[in-house]
Amino acid sequence: MKLHVSVPFTALFLVACSSSPKQEPASPATPAAEPAASADPVAAQIEQGKELYVAKCAKCHGDAGQGTKDGPPVVGKDAFPLDPRPGAKRDVQFHTAADVFAWATKTMPGDDPASLTTEQYLAIFAFDLTANGVKLTAPLDGAAAQAIVLHP
Ligand code: HEC
Repeated sequence: MKLHVSVPFTALFLVACSSSPKQEPASPATPAAEPAASADPVAAQIEQGKELYVAKCAKCHGDAGQGTKDGPPVVGKDAFPLDPRPGAKRDVQFHTAADVFAWATKTMPGDDPASLTTEQYLAIFAFDLTANGVKLTAPLDGAAAQAIVLHP
């Protein structure tokens, strides 16, 4: 059986190129991206906490945690006193960072209590504790906060 294969006629317009095809110089091999510095999980948590602090806490507690007329300091020697300040709503003592955490996650931000996730509160406290001179060697979690004694 004979096969009639019809070949579609394709007009090829060969455009003469006046310049010779560009010879790209062999590009030097791009080195694989270095792992970012923020691969450090502690630094990443602190960075996240800083952004959240600025967005959610700074308007009452101050840009540097120094306190404002709307909220007490959360950084520096006057931060986190053992006993509630005169006239405060707080009704617990702050012995450890976990005590501060437990109270603040239920009551803060003052204008929208308990509105963040546990991870977000942990990040904010990682940032805040770092600002208070606490050196974190691993991302902050509940057990680590329990071990940070503010007032024995
Ligand atoms: C609308 C203002 C406001 C915002 C926003 C706010 N706070 Fe507060 N915060 C206060 C006030 C007022 C107090 C004092 C409460 C009391 O009477 O015990 C306080 C107390 C605290 C305390 C206890 C300090 C102490 O000395 O007793 C912590 C910790 C705290 N806030 C953390 C936070 C964090 C973290 C955020 C952001 C997620 C935040 N706050 C956002 C107003 C605010």
